[in-house]
Formats: sequence, C-alpha cells, structure tokens
Amino acid sequence: MTPLSGCKRKTQKIIQISDCHVSVDCRADYRGQNPDRNLQSLLPVMRAWDPDLLLLTGDVSEDASPASYARVAAMTGTVGAPLLALPGNHDLPKVMKKHFPLGPWDGPFACEAGPWLLVLMDSTARGSIAGTFSQQDMERFDRLLRGSSAEFVLVALHHQPVPVNSPWIDRYALENPDLFFQFIDRDSRVRCITWGHIHQDFCSRRHGVRLFGAPSTAANSLPQTRRFTLDLAGPACRWFELGVDGGLETGILQPAQSSTGKTSQRIK
Ligand SMILES: [Fe+2]
Repeated sequence: MTPLSGCKRKTQKIIQISDCHVSVDCRADYRGQNPDRNLQSLLPVMRAWDPDLLLLTGDVSEDASPASYARVAAMTGTVGAPLLALPGNHDLPKVMKKHFPLGPWDGPFACEAGPWLLVLMDSTARGSIAGTFSQQDMERFDRLLRGSSAEFVLVALHHQPVPVNSPWIDRYALENPDLFFQFIDRDSRVRCITWGHIHQDFCSRRHGVRLFGAPSTAANSLPQTRRFTLDLAGPACRWFELGVDGGLETGILQPAQSSTGKTSQRIK
C-alpha cells in the first residue's frame, strides 16, 4: 500500500486528467485540435487550484511513443503534485510506466489519501478499444480492499462501466460490467468510481455509489451524440474534494480564457 507523502486528515484535493492523446510530434492534430497546446492551456488553472494529487486516467498518449509520455510527464510535473496514472486503450503500459511509475502495472494499485483509499485499475485489453477485467483482476482488487483499513474507497479506471448515452463511445465500454459491479457491491466503503475514455463530463449514481466520467484535455464531444461532435467549450479536467467524512464534491476546470467563461462547476 502506498501512502501519499504529507497526507493528513484533511480534505483531499485531486485533479483527474484524462485522454491527453499527445503524439510523438507535438504539432500533430487530434480531432482538429492540438493536444499539447490544449493540455498546456489547462496547467495555469490546475496550478492555481493547488491539488494534493493528480490522477491520469488513460489515453495519455495517442501513439504510445516515449516522447509523448515524456512531454505529458514534464507538463503535469509543473503542477507540483504527486501523480498516479493508469493506462487507456491507446497506451502501452510497458512504455508508460517508465514515465509514470505509480500505477496499476502489476495488478490494481492502491494509495491512501487521508481516510480514503484510491484504487487504480487497468481495464485495457490488448488489441481492443473496449475494456475488460478478468476474474483474477477482480479477485486481486477484492484482496486489496480487504487488506485495507481505509474508511472510504475511490476506484479509477479508463473504460466506462455504465453506458453514457453516446453511441460512438458506448460501443467501446467495459465489456463485462457485471463482474466488475459484483465485486464493487461487496464493499460498502466504495463511494466513487471515475473513468476517462468518454471525452465528456458525466455524472450518475448507482446503488449509492457516485459515478463520474472525466472530459479530455485534448478534445471533447457534446454529450449524447451518435457520432463524436466537437464541443467548442474546449479542453477540461475534473476536480474532486474528498472529505474526511466520506462526502465528496466535484466539478470541471477549464482554461481561464474558455469560451464558456466558466472555470468550474461544483456538484455535491
Ligand atoms: Fe480511450
């Protein structure tokens, strides 16, 4: 179990960064956007928000090149917070882990943050855009939870375990959510599940567990669309405040000059 350095019994401020889709060439285009520039545009607002921790939820790279991971590590390093990372379908774990050592590279990865346990899982399946977990993955997850005395649990993965009502990405969801939720439902300390992959803000609830999807730092889609439809509000990331009482607040950070003029929304 990895404890976060300097962790005290206080609200834990986390920024979830997802789907950066940075390529070997920093000028490369992704859905009409420049991923490097868009990630850069979020860094000042991330630094101003002063997080305790950064959580990268996959598709950090578009092409799994060492150069792309090195640039994302350098950029996110300027925020000045420890960084946890998990892979998406575009990532290559054996390359990614050299740049992001704290992650689920040998099974689920757990880290204590105050009374919370943050559990990162690798939902990727080689050669597939969709995600999956094996029985063994979930048994290791179960053992990890049973071995922890944390009061509350946040689970992070790349693929959405529930439909987000966007057919273009729901085709590539977690393929066996029943197995996943069978294990989630065993432990009432699980308060929150968050993922990337969907390139849009998403909030829901299942059996009292809060469910969240994070927007992309590269390019987002308008919600509930049949095809990817660029959201002109631009890049974004999610913030969480995990309370010492198990409560959480969350919202979205956008660049200060965002066309919507909104830098955050707060959901209790
Ligand atoms: Fe993805």
